[in-house]
Amino acid sequence: MSAIDYSDKIPNNVNLSEDRTLQRALEHWQPNYLEWWKDMGPEGSHGFDVYLRTAVSVDPQGWAQFGHVKMPDYRWGIFMNPAEKDRKIHFGDHMGENVWQDVPGEHRANLRRIIVTQGDTEPASVEQQRHLGLTAPSQYDLRNLFQINVEEGRHLWAMVYLLHKHFGRDGREEADALLQRNSGSQDNPRILEAFNEETPDWLSFFMFTYFTDRDGKFQLCALAESAFDPLARTTKFMLTEEAHHMFVGESGVGRVINRTCQVMNELKTDDPAKLRAAGVIDLPTIQRYLNFHFSVTIDLFGADQSSNAATFYSTGLKGRYEEGKRQDDHVLKGQTYKILEVQGGQLVEREVPMLNALNEVLRDDYIKDSVGGVERWNKLIEKAGLPHRLSVPHKAFHRNIGSLAGVKVSPEGRVVSEAEWQAKVGEWLPTPEDRAYVASLMGRVVEPGQFANWIAPPVMGINRQPVNFEYVRFN
Ligand SMILES: [Fe+2]
Ligand SMILES: [Fe+2]
Repeated sequence: MSAIDYSDKIPNNVNLSEDRTLQRALEHWQPNYLEWWKDMGPEGSHGFDVYLRTAVSVDPQGWAQFGHVKMPDYRWGIFMNPAEKDRKIHFGDHMGENVWQDVPGEHRANLRRIIVTQGDTEPASVEQQRHLGLTAPSQYDLRNLFQINVEEGRHLWAMVYLLHKHFGRDGREEADALLQRNSGSQDNPRILEAFNEETPDWLSFFMFTYFTDRDGKFQLCALAESAFDPLARTTKFMLTEEAHHMFVGESGVGRVINRTCQVMNELKTDDPAKLRAAGVIDLPTIQRYLNFHFSVTIDLFGADQSSNAATFYSTGLKGRYEEGKRQDDHVLKGQTYKILEVQGGQLVEREVPMLNALNEVLRDDYIKDSVGGVERWNKLIEKAGLPHRLSVPHKAFHRNIGSLAGVKVSPEGRVVSEAEWQAKVGEWLPTPEDRAYVASLMGRVVEPGQFANWIAPPVMGINRQPVNFEYVRFN
């Protein structure tokens, strides 16, 4: 079951050749995908040989094989975790029943919407990152960017397979539309706001892969609980790929911090002007980038109260993070959860039915998880002997969705006036000057083992290769 057939035009472990109609439909979509990759994928990269991992099996041991490949020749395919025998629905109103191998008619519209929304984020991030290769700080980083890009492309394949196989003509139309929307487009943008933002520089990229790919992890974890078994099995395999994306983010920001701290110690200063003159990114700028990416990302979890969230859970479409490890009744009727609201200019907690607050539950789980990496970044600063610390902003800071959208809140969680916000926003979010400064650092470093001045080398290479390995051959 888990062996992947690479002799097929579309590598897969889902016995694609047994369903000729489906196979033909996907083989029809494939050239459109490749066109999209050529137009919207990493700019100027199509002739490069890149040291990439490719899935060869979905077994936990050795699913990946490494070698230099041209990205348009990457074996994008359809991979699912093996089916769990006698798997039962383990939350919501259908608890205890068999999971579904096909889409029940009454859940069709909601499932399609969930799959399309997830699918839309995958090519969107490739589009957001398409210019970054031109300013990579090293070959090592360039390779990591490309690895993430091809895997986001594969995640699109994963969702497109479900649409083609289970949603008939509507599904095929949705699969086409996934290649037609474009990040940041005026006429036909991507579905979610954070996926229409630019990723203009590598500090943004590392913050994005730390914070926003982690949103991906939480969404995929919730879908991995789904009663719709093909969705659960698909997202479980996607999660194994996602781990590397978050590693790139966490270690990338960590290396920026290491380099900054090194120069702070050499120059014995924390003056941003002096550090900028020395060509590194001062910690307050890193904090502002962090504030931006954190706040934009937590909006992705949706409104704090949502009847859709309740429906998705009760009908078994989408569980909670680590649903199986939780000790409650997995039905949640009559239970409550605290959300934040503004009353009389103050943030106050209010108890609401938990089923309606499941977006907030997932957001809070996400916040707990993302704080962990920030603590590890602080350890790096501590190890450098410096007193500065980074922190995640209050969850009401800079929000655009839900009941907190209408209020201005400082990173510490204090409700502020519009005037105070305007006066302080330059201390809290990246300013045009910050962005221009970071952009000015972005040059192209392509010699193996060489790194841009603003970032430290990694401790280790990829797949036990040395740091100065030729990860990308430009030809
Ligand atoms: Fe993804
Ligand atoms: Fe990702």
